[in-house]
Amino acid sequence: MERRTIGAAGLAVGAVGLGCMPMSWGYSASQRHGDRSVRTVHAALDAGVRLLDTADMYGPFTNELLVGRALKGRRSEAFLSTKCGLLVGDQHIVANGRPGYVRRACDASLRRLQTDVIDLYQLHRADPEVPVEETWGAMAELVTAGKVRSLGLCAVGAHAPRRSGAGPFAGTIRQLERIQQVFPVSAVQAELSVWAPEALEELLPWCAARGVGVLAAMPLGNGYLTGTLKPGQGFEPDDLRARHPRFTAEMMAANQPVVAGLRRIAERRGASVAQVALAWVLRQGPHVVPVPGAKRERWAVENAGAADVVLDDRDLAEIAGLPPARGSWD
Ligand SMILES: NC(=O)c1ccc[n+]([C@@H]2O[C@H](COP(=O)([O-])OP(=O)(O)OC[C@H]3O[C@@H](n4cnc5c(N)ncnc54)[C@H](OP(=O)(O)O)[C@@H]3O)[C@@H](O)[C@H]2O)c1
Repeated sequence: MERRTIGAAGLAVGAVGLGCMPMSWGYSASQRHGDRSVRTVHAALDAGVRLLDTADMYGPFTNELLVGRALKGRRSEAFLSTKCGLLVGDQHIVANGRPGYVRRACDASLRRLQTDVIDLYQLHRADPEVPVEETWGAMAELVTAGKVRSLGLCAVGAHAPRRSGAGPFAGTIRQLERIQQVFPVSAVQAELSVWAPEALEELLPWCAARGVGVLAAMPLGNGYLTGTLKPGQGFEPDDLRARHPRFTAEMMAANQPVVAGLRRIAERRGASVAQVALAWVLRQGPHVVPVPGAKRERWAVENAGAADVVLDDRDLAEIAGLPPARGSWD
């Protein structure tokens, strides 16, 4: 698989990564299966995927345990990316950016992942109670201690509330400018897909100008941009799509032209709809690595194959001409 470089630390990974979240979090629990997830990680590595993205809050904790189990004997083949800074409580998810907490969280992640170094350690969300420089400083000490190779920041989503008139990632860019003064940022993780292109406006150019890599989260639009979901099919109550405004029967039907447009290109190229959606993300810059989530081996292998699908100008123009997706959080 084509190699891409992650930011300041110059670490090489396969162009397509694997998001491990759906194996333990976010999507319906009835569909999860530990052994199948382990096989999925192995299939992805066999297909040339290197970057595995997890977080301590996925599960919580069980996703890191699963990834650690899957990497037994294969650690050297993977680029391990995890996150700290969000705690799952009974009712709410809260940020914790206190330095002492960050140090403990890293040690706990290392234990669960059964490794002595994390390749990319990301701050999941800044803690509004702690200056982000303090949190980032503690993370930088983990690099000095050899527990972590590089640091990343997860952006607050494009759909989060923002100051009127400000770009969708203006708050993230302010945070990035502050933490860059403390220690180099190697990667930013942000939602980026055909139906969520907002990061192209400011965030991607900001990263490209500074040699910062981009991990494109939710590059398949939570599965919608694969063409395998049917309007009105419904989702189990514990599936994030049961509350997502783009996954009501009405909006899933309204957004079908987006899938139809991707399908036309897929048929022309002999690729799948998901591969075209990922190939579009890959075309947004050599510093971008999509991390499609999958818990099935078949999907992981298919998604890895997107690295071989190269879209031309006509394909890109057709995607640019698709109607903007409908269904928003506002
Ligand atoms: N930083 C953040 O705040 C944040 C937030 C969300 C996600 N993320 C990261 O981004 C990663 C990806 O996001 P995501 O998993 O939520 O969304 P996604 O990658 O857009 O979509 C994942 C969904 O698509 C399905 N799928 C994957 N490949 C497919 C294929 N080829 N054909 C048909 N269906 C396919 C998966 O099904 P199965 O699960 O059934 O295999 C899963 O339901 C996560 O794993 C996580 O690492 C980060």
